[in-house]
Amino acid sequence: MELLEAIKSRMSVRGFKPDPVPKEILSELLSVATRSPSGVNCQPWEIYIVMGEALEKLREAYVGQYRLGIAPQPVAYAGPTAKGVSPSLKGVYRERQVQLAIDMFRLLGIKKGDEKKLREYYEKMYRFYDAPAVIIITADESLLLTSVSLDIGLLTQTIALAAQEYGLGTCVMRAIVDYPAQARDVVKIPYSKRPIIGLAIGYPDWDDPVNKLRTERESLDKILTVVGKV
Ligand SMILES: Cc1cc2nc3c(=O)[nH]c(=O)nc-3n(C[C@H](O)[C@H](O)[C@H](O)COP(=O)(O)O)c2cc1C
Repeated sequence: MELLEAIKSRMSVRGFKPDPVPKEILSELLSVATRSPSGVNCQPWEIYIVMGEALEKLREAYVGQYRLGIAPQPVAYAGPTAKGVSPSLKGVYRERQVQLAIDMFRLLGIKKGDEKKLREYYEKMYRFYDAPAVIIITADESLLLTSVSLDIGLLTQTIALAAQEYGLGTCVMRAIVDYPAQARDVVKIPYSKRPIIGLAIGYPDWDDPVNKLRTERESLDKILTVVGKV
């Protein structure tokens, strides 16, 4: 796939076929993606692939937390509340978040106030959209005051772009690190490593209506300032 085409066609995939992704393919993908740059080449990432029984356990643990009404506790950055509404976004940022929810729920036929369907949606999110594998990217606690978030962001996008070359779809997901205690317990992530972000990964089910969502972007003239002339 051409690079520009890969950048344009990447989207969050939230409906997957049940087919497993061979570990060898995921390893090859990750070994390509870790060509990503990082500050002073410190490569602050350590990566976990979770599949099969372990992934089922992780889903159960997360859905259990969600059903108990436990607020997500992503350790890397402030995240939304258990209902998925971030109190921290304001102005245009909040408007874009709301637009995403409107578009998503319209597509899925979830009407305003339909708590039952909304809860079902969030449970599905905490099942990581039933992807056959998830990737958890962690960073060493000693690195947290460095460029680690940028470095791991670059790696994450590189995984998402390169995955397409293998016919795989991804969804970058804060939800995968929303319950770090459960992630540590099931995945055996040591306390010296902090889960930063996750990706659901698998073969996209293009018949799933959720995958019809195409998100908008602000036009460039609203966000770009050009200084100087050539
Ligand atoms: C840091 C980060 C965290 C995200 N967390 C979630 C998540 O928990 N659940 C989810 O469904 N999508 C999540 N997303 C996907 C975004 O909603 C998505 O990237 C955005 O709406 C733009 O849509 P697109 O990826 O289809 O272009 C996350 C994306 C990023 C970059």
